[in-house]
Amino acid sequence: MAQPLKLGLFGFGTVGQGLYGVLNETRGLNAEIVRICVKDRQKQRPIAREHFTFEPSELLEDPELDVIVELIDTADEAFAIVQRALANGKAVVTANKKMVAEHLGELVELQQQYGVPLLYEAACAGSIPIVRNLEEYYDNDLLSSLSGVLNGTCNYILTRMYEESVDYAPVLADAQAKGFAESDPTLDVDGLDAKYKLVILTGHAFGTIPAPADVLTLGIRQASAHDFQFAREKGYKLQLEALSRRLPGERLASYVLPRFVRPSDLIHNVSQEFNGVVVEAAFAEQQFFMGKGAGSYPTASAVLSDISALSFSYKYSYKKRAQNAPLALDRDVTLRVYLRYPTGHEPVLEQLGVHNIEVRHSAEGVSYVIGRLQLGTLLSRHEELRHEPFFLALMPEQPELDQGEPAEAAAAEAVAARS
Ligand SMILES: NC(=O)c1ccc[n+]([C@@H]2O[C@H](COP(=O)([O-])OP(=O)(O)OC[C@H]3O[C@@H](n4cnc5c(N)ncnc54)[C@H](OP(=O)(O)O)[C@@H]3O)[C@@H](O)[C@H]2O)c1
Repeated sequence: MAQPLKLGLFGFGTVGQGLYGVLNETRGLNAEIVRICVKDRQKQRPIAREHFTFEPSELLEDPELDVIVELIDTADEAFAIVQRALANGKAVVTANKKMVAEHLGELVELQQQYGVPLLYEAACAGSIPIVRNLEEYYDNDLLSSLSGVLNGTCNYILTRMYEESVDYAPVLADAQAKGFAESDPTLDVDGLDAKYKLVILTGHAFGTIPAPADVLTLGIRQASAHDFQFAREKGYKLQLEALSRRLPGERLASYVLPRFVRPSDLIHNVSQEFNGVVVEAAFAEQQFFMGKGAGSYPTASAVLSDISALSFSYKYSYKKRAQNAPLALDRDVTLRVYLRYPTGHEPVLEQLGVHNIEVRHSAEGVSYVIGRLQLGTLLSRHEELRHEPFFLALMPEQPELDQGEPAEAAAAEAVAARS
C-alpha cells in the first residue's frame, strides 16, 4: 500500500474541524493530518493538545509533510502561508476565496515557478464541484456565461424576507444567531464574498482574471419590504446573482447584483443557504449545479476532494488562459434596472444616468423607477451607493414575457405616481 499523504493543517475552526471529521469517516483516501497550526493559545480544543502547534514553521519547514491545507480566516496571513508553502515545494489546498481572488495571477506564477500545485475547489460555492469542472469538463466547449447564487448567507436572508415578509434587520440578526452570518456580515451582504468567487470562476471559465475592484458589486444591505412587495406583485423572487458573460469582440461583462428572477429561471429554486451555478456552453448548452455553499462538512467535502486529487498528481492547467485571448471588461453594457429611493431623492436618477424610464412609481414616501443605466456609471459609484438609502436590482430582460409588464403595469403605476 502507498504511503499516506501527510498533511499539515492551518486552522481548526468550522472547516478545519470538518476536514478532521470527514477524513476520519472516509475510507478511500489514504491521508493523515500530522500537525495542526492554530493561533489562540487559550482556546479549548475538541481533540488532544499534542496535535497542535502555534508555530507556522513547524509545518512549513517540515520535510515530511507533502501537503499544506490552509483553512484560516484571514486573507493576508493565508497568502503568506501559501507563498511559503509553495516556495518550500509543498502542494497546497485552500478554501480562502478572498486570498485566491486577490492574488490569482501571482498564485498561477508561483505554481509554475516552484512546480507544485495549489487547489481551491472549496473557495467557490462550497460543496459544488465547479472549478475542476470548468477546468476539465468544459475544457474545449465554448463557454458563453457563468452565473449563479454564490453566497448562502445572502440567499438565506433573501429567502426568508420573501417567504415570511420580514424585514432585513431581524432576519440578519437571526442568521447571525444561527451561525449562517458572521458578526460582521459586510463580506457577505455587500456582495464581496460572491465577487471573490466570481473572479476565480471567471478565470477558469474564460481565462481572464478580472481585478476584484473592476467587478461591479452591489449587495442586499438596502433590501426592504417594499422590494419584496414589488417582487411578489410581479411573480418574481429576489436573488443576489454573480455573473460573467462573454460578449462579442473579446469583451466580458462581470458583476454581482441583486436580480428579480422569474420562476422559469434555473436559479429560482435555489433557496435558503444553498448555492447554484449555471454554465452556458455552445455545445452542452445550459447546465445547472446546486448544493450547499458553506458549512463544516459540505465545505470540507470539497477540501477532501482536492486532497484526493493531489494523491493522483492533479493540478490546474489554466487551459482557458492558454486558449483564449484576454477579455476586456466592458463598461458600456446597458442594464435594465429597478431603482428604489426615498421620494425627494430624484437627483440620484440623473447622477446614475438612468434613462429609457418605463415605469415611475411613488407612494407613501417611497419611489421607484424601472429604466436603464450603464454598467460603467454604476461601477464608478457602487462603493458609495452601498451606504445610501437606495436599492438597485436587475430587472429581467424581455419584459414582454411577464404578464402586466410593462405596458399595463406602467399605466397603473403612472396613475399612482400622479396621485
Ligand atoms: N465556514 C464556511 O462555511 C466556509 C465555506 C467556504 C469557505 N470557507 C473559508 O474557509 C476558511 C476557514 O473558514 P472557517 O469558517 O473554518 O474559519 P473559522 O471557523 O473562523 O476558523 C479559523 C481558524 O483559523 C485559525 N487561524 C487564524 N489565523 C491563524 C494563523 N495566522 N495561523 C494559524 N491559524 C490561524 C483560527 O485559530 P484559533 O482556533 O486559534 O482561533 C481558527 O482555528 C476561510 O478562508 C473561509 O473563507 C469557509
